[in-house]
Amino acid sequence: MKTTVQKSSFGKLPDGSEADLYTLTNANGLIAKITNYGTIITELHVPDRDGKLADVVLGFDTLAPYLERHPYFGCTVGRVANRIYQGRFTLDGKPYTLAVNNGPNHLHGGLKGFDKALWQAEPLAGAAVKFTYTSPDGEEGYPGTLRVSVTMTLTDANELRLEYSATTDRPTPVNLTNHSYFNLAGEGDVLGHELMLVADHYTPKTADGVPTGEIKPVEGTPMDFRTPQTIGARFPELGGEPPGYDHNYVLRGEGERLAFVARVREPKSGRVMELRTTEPGVQLYTGNFLNGTLTGKRGAVYQRHAGLCLETQHFPDAVNQPKFPSVILRPGKTYWHDTIFNFRAT
Ligand code: GLA
Repeated sequence: MKTTVQKSSFGKLPDGSEADLYTLTNANGLIAKITNYGTIITELHVPDRDGKLADVVLGFDTLAPYLERHPYFGCTVGRVANRIYQGRFTLDGKPYTLAVNNGPNHLHGGLKGFDKALWQAEPLAGAAVKFTYTSPDGEEGYPGTLRVSVTMTLTDANELRLEYSATTDRPTPVNLTNHSYFNLAGEGDVLGHELMLVADHYTPKTADGVPTGEIKPVEGTPMDFRTPQTIGARFPELGGEPPGYDHNYVLRGEGERLAFVARVREPKSGRVMELRTTEPGVQLYTGNFLNGTLTGKRGAVYQRHAGLCLETQHFPDAVNQPKFPSVILRPGKTYWHDTIFNFRAT
């Protein structure tokens, strides 16, 4: 089979501009579909142990529902992923106020984050597309013009590689991630998926989901995935309403170099997804807010825990937590983030 990128139309935005869909196929027949609207990964087809393909990400069949409110299916999140306390921070002595869109806090870039932008797309050799977006000075309250790119590649080693970069003309926070919801069975819920996560610590949060600033060991708690555990096994002990994980883990890697982070396995199909990243953290989110009101691809109704996200990132609210690794990008420097999901079956 040949490695290819094919472009087709994905529909019109309200302002009349056209969104496209890029279909990436690798030499083994794996398929990823990505639209330049929000750089959303709309489909990802990977084989089970018998070679049978299933689409392992949540999403919609058409553009229209992506233009409505949805819980960040498959998109690139930015300018800053996750929550910023009350949408406020101070940088170089100057206070900034951001759009508030999640209770009292700023979430995932604000009212119109990078997930709702129409990106430029440039197909590259092999099964790859480079998406670029220029975020204007002041967008959602953020300082500086930010030039962002994410290159998405489906390699012949059955990896989906996401390489992010950004430059700015004024100091600004930047924290990009991808918000794909995975379900390696291709249906049902993820409670029986097994997860191994190489993290000794996590960042505790308030009821609003904002870090308290502490870094606590996972040892002896339901947060501990250092040996494989099924996702749902310790929900009763974990508590929380709605139940499930929505936590940032502190990874062991020192950043910069790719480090192995997580392995997810779905026992029935044998599908395995492994995750490597250069980022210092990962948000484990188990689709707790899905509640059966969204109908996705092929008529699937997304009930609670229909998918799980592993959002590689700097820690939430890092702009307000001096002890967390900094998310500030300065002119002349380049933000760089490399995350690889690889797929196999056992
Ligand atoms: C992130 C957050 C969650 C939730 C989802 C989107 O993962 O941590 O609290 O907001 O995004 O629904």
